[in-house]
Amino acid sequence: MTKMFALTAAALLATTSAYAGDAVKGEKDMKKCKACHTVENGDDVIFKGGKTGPNLYGVIGRTAGTEESFTKYGDDLVAVGAAGLVWTEELLVEYVQDPKKFLSAQLDTAAKSKMSFKLKDASDVAAYLASVGPAVEEMPVEDMPTEDAAPAE
Ligand code: HEC
Repeated sequence: MTKMFALTAAALLATTSAYAGDAVKGEKDMKKCKACHTVENGDDVIFKGGKTGPNLYGVIGRTAGTEESFTKYGDDLVAVGAAGLVWTEELLVEYVQDPKKFLSAQLDTAAKSKMSFKLKDASDVAAYLASVGPAVEEMPVEDMPTEDAAPAE
């Protein structure tokens, strides 16, 4: 019985995100985003927060600047989405480190961001957001549409 449980736990671990973030810690870190972001799927409020920013449910795998109920996107975030940027955990972490800098690098011009907030390490938050969204299809990294657009590390 114990052995079976251990096996199940290992299998569960293996299916969690390939990225380094910790979803459990990320849920706690979400309090930093709470003032402006909620996470809700229709009427199902998964994480209650403010509406200054877009609903982050399903943001991983979503094209930037396209959350339907959010009407206050800045032009530059919308432009990045129109150019094909789909949020991955890695890109979200990079964005949250410095939204204005991220958009400027993506658009190769001095961009503006309506998100006036920075967090040095959002990798746990990214893992949390990936875990609560609809399942994102596994995609080999080389097929990611944003690979070319991402600034070199
Ligand atoms: C002070 C308010 C505020 C806080 C705090 C904040 N955000 Fe935002 N966020 C915004 C706004 C406003 C936008 C829209 C930006 C734009 O249109 O330029 C945004 C956009 C985003 C987007 C792009 C979403 C999309 O639909 O393309 C992501 C991802 C994001 N925020 C993640 C986070 C995370 C993660 C945190 C916490 C670590 C956070 N934000 C904290 C206000 C905030």
